Amino acid sequence: MLDIQFGADYYPEHWPEDRWETDAKLMREMGLGVVRMAEFAWTRLEPREGEFHFDWLRRAINLLGKYGVKTVLGTPTPTPPAWIVENHPDVLAVNSRGMRVSFGGRHHNCQSSRVYRSHAVRLLEAFTKEFRDNPHVIGWQTDNELGNSHDDLCHCPSCRTAFQDWLRDRYGTVEELNRRWGTVFWSQEYDSFRQVPTPAWNVTAHSPSLLLDWKRFHSDLVCGFQQFQIDIIRKNCPSHIITHNFMGFFDLLDYYKLAEPLDFVSHDQYPTGFFDNPQPGKTPSALASSLDLMRGLKNKTFWIMEQQSGPTGWTILGRTPEPGQLSLWTAQSVARGADCVVFFRWRTCAVGTEQYWHGILPHSGRPGRRYGELKETISRLKPVMGEFRGALSGAEGAILYDYEQNWSLEIQPHHPELDYIKQVQVYYDAFHARNVPLDFISGDRDFSPYKLIIAPLIYLMTPELEDKFASYVKGGGRLVLTMRTGVKNNDNVCLTERELPGRSGDLLGLEITDYDCLRDINRAVSWAEATGLSAEKWCDIITLRGAESLAEISDGWYRGNPVVTVNGAGKGKACYVGTEPNGALALKLADYLIGEAGLEPLARQADGLEVIRRRGAERDYYFVLNHGPEEKGFTPPAGWEPLSRENGAVPPYGFRLFTLRR
Ligand code: GLA
Ligand code: ZN
Repeated sequence: MLDIQFGADYYPEHWPEDRWETDAKLMREMGLGVVRMAEFAWTRLEPREGEFHFDWLRRAINLLGKYGVKTVLGTPTPTPPAWIVENHPDVLAVNSRGMRVSFGGRHHNCQSSRVYRSHAVRLLEAFTKEFRDNPHVIGWQTDNELGNSHDDLCHCPSCRTAFQDWLRDRYGTVEELNRRWGTVFWSQEYDSFRQVPTPAWNVTAHSPSLLLDWKRFHSDLVCGFQQFQIDIIRKNCPSHIITHNFMGFFDLLDYYKLAEPLDFVSHDQYPTGFFDNPQPGKTPSALASSLDLMRGLKNKTFWIMEQQSGPTGWTILGRTPEPGQLSLWTAQSVARGADCVVFFRWRTCAVGTEQYWHGILPHSGRPGRRYGELKETISRLKPVMGEFRGALSGAEGAILYDYEQNWSLEIQPHHPELDYIKQVQVYYDAFHARNVPLDFISGDRDFSPYKLIIAPLIYLMTPELEDKFASYVKGGGRLVLTMRTGVKNNDNVCLTERELPGRSGDLLGLEITDYDCLRDINRAVSWAEATGLSAEKWCDIITLRGAESLAEISDGWYRGNPVVTVNGAGKGKACYVGTEPNGALALKLADYLIGEAGLEPLARQADGLEVIRRRGAERDYYFVLNHGPEEKGFTPPAGWEPLSRENGAVPPYGFRLFTLRR
């Protein structure tokens, strides 16, 4: 494990060389130990085909190294230079309407283009050999935010052939594809794989089976685009680490697969959101869940490769983080599993598209408020981070998070506002409010370490997963399945053998014979004395076959219909939620499940403070975070010792650190 805790994303090529030493000194004074560089620097590394210029980068690396700052190098594949595009216009991607993207911006390349890959291979071979023995270089970031900007791409002839080849690998024969997709519908039967289209623009809609395979293919294509880079780096730089900067709940790629060949995951954390979107700042719980997902991808601690360090913006700007917020968000990242936090970016750039995406330093390069605040935070966190490096949260509950469920529901969301990620977040929020930590896990993971698993919207079901759920519950686990469980098989085709939710009905003790898409209303729900509970977007109409009803619909024609149920099976229990719960219903359910599964909140009387644990070798570390603008009192539970200087109330946008001997 690397002994580095903080860093910055640095672009020396944007500034005169005589400034670099000032930057290096300021970085050292601030406590930074690493920079990421060069992920967009192709034209400075190879200005013409085969003509490599590594000198400037070597000088920057060595100068930073002299000040104790190591380097992670990015492979500059997100920015194909104009000289490649001029000679080979077909490396540019084509959208679903057949339009080729123009040069400019970044990620304009087609991911399957052999020509583009051969250019990347030539550069990476030279680049990796150049720096493999440099003592200041510790590793590599592949590309940058893979999949970003690839929406609706790429439908070029090369990608169409690659899709068809991918289908041949999956189905073997075109007859098998016809059978499994059900292409008899609307006369879409194919005689050969070469007839199968990409889901390009048409007048109605493509087959849901084709659409799901297209999403799978696209994800595999991008993972493959990363893999050839990893192969070169591993071959030439066997002692270096390899990572990639992920984007939280980004949904175009199967992040479990993208993470698999990496040493660890890195994540880009921007609490005030991205440019142009009218989205408000993300909630503390949404920030927390994206960090927890990053930890879940490999069940391993991670890096932040881009942590927000100022106002964000391209053409439109986000809010300026208030005093304390940058520091609070940094502490949250560390608390939820970041072993190193790299700030984006070192200095606000004067040129290009991102002139208003602010760095630690302002345009002037003079250290100001942000530099001071982050320096202070680094001095608080750095001394303890070694103690829990690599350590996980010890969560006893988990959410099963699955990319293919999301993709199939993106294809057919049922309700216009149904969104897999948002529904997952509803459950997560309730446990977050109670300071009960959760992990995110894939369906492939061992379920047995968890007392509780919530598996929302398992719309695509396999017999293997049904069995795995059943044996988990029979062995003593508490499982929650929800609306739209077991509707389809992996080919995105509806299952017909039984009433919903298929074989899981035995485990859950119920059957669903009717349902209602709640397009224009919510339904009121009664659960003991609780108030404000409602069922949203969807309601299953449930016949109990042994399960007990915990909550019922209290209005409309199926008034009295069970909406939350529980059924004992073996040593465990399986719950069903036949709707999307609103916040109050999710909280009521979480309280029931916390009691039922015997989960321990990290702190009970926390008054809206976020409490997070990292488990050290001998001691646990507790972070208490105040995401609000008012100071909050906090009485630490017995045994918690404040770290020095950590006494008193939690300041506005502040945090406190405690330890507990185990
Ligand atoms: C992403 C990218 C960075 C930068 C920032 C700000 O996170 O990885 O290169 O573009 O957004 O827009
Ligand atoms: Zn293409």
